[in-house]
Amino acid sequence: MTTTLPASGRYAVFGNPIAHSKSPRIHAMFAASVGQQIDYVARLCPLGEFAADLERFRNEGGVGANVTVPFKLDAFAVAREASLRAQQAGAANFLMWRGDHWYCDNTDGAGLVRDIETNQGVALRGKRVLLLGAGGAVRGVIGPLLLREPEALVVVNRTHATAVELVGHYAAQYPVTALTAEQLVATGQRFDVVINATSASLSGALPLPQDAAIFASDALAYDMMYGKAPTVFLRWAGQRGAARTCDGLGMLVEQAAESYVQWRGVLPPAAPVMAQLRAELLPS
Ligand code: ATR
Repeated sequence: MTTTLPASGRYAVFGNPIAHSKSPRIHAMFAASVGQQIDYVARLCPLGEFAADLERFRNEGGVGANVTVPFKLDAFAVAREASLRAQQAGAANFLMWRGDHWYCDNTDGAGLVRDIETNQGVALRGKRVLLLGAGGAVRGVIGPLLLREPEALVVVNRTHATAVELVGHYAAQYPVTALTAEQLVATGQRFDVVINATSASLSGALPLPQDAAIFASDALAYDMMYGKAPTVFLRWAGQRGAARTCDGLGMLVEQAAESYVQWRGVLPPAAPVMAQLRAELLPS
């Protein structure tokens, strides 16, 4: 049998800091569940040295990498070939060695879509979706979200000009608009899916006015962040009428599964890994 997949080889997640990364554990669990072995480690990459460190990794037998903060733009720049979704994002979280060059992809959007549609059971097609934020996290997911054919996608960001600029890349082809938070509240629009892709949860802030009434009946509120306890946004969403709330742990695992299948040719089951990580988050 011929295969283009490397029989062996090294994999790593590059970041700085990186000690907190769950990716090595996730990929070890994936490999065990599909009967494969994978050599995958966390790699603390010196700031400003991404390209040089990736080359060192290649010389050590590296064939694939995930990339996290602050190197996703560097990963895109270093790759000679990029998937469409990485081009749309202008950033990559995935690298694969292709014989004589690095290929890059961005699996964040696919991870988010699979978590919402498969794990949460909410088909995005025909839905009204609100996306909060306009930074790197949003650039990584907006293209894949629009491909799911929502009825409307509204982007609200604290700095409105950034949302306008981002939406401008898609508005000719897709039903996507940028609104200020004030416009959102004033027009009284309701949404089936509200995704918080801001980093506001990190500082315990709410990315919308406290009194915003934005949830349609049966709405899903999704925060790309996750932690031991529900984020401020998810707590607020529950109080403001969201029928369901979900944090970003499933997206983390699903974006990893989307990496694994490209490297190793098998899509590993995400559910047991999500359950294990969730159990580890809970206080013992
Ligand atoms: P990331 O890669 O996580 O998206 P980023 O590119 O720095 O990080 O973007 C952070 C996003 O969170 C931005 O949309 C930011 O809004 P601004 O464009 O106005 O900076 C948003 N954000 C961060 N803190 C926020 C807060 N307290 N309230 C609302 N939005 C916030």
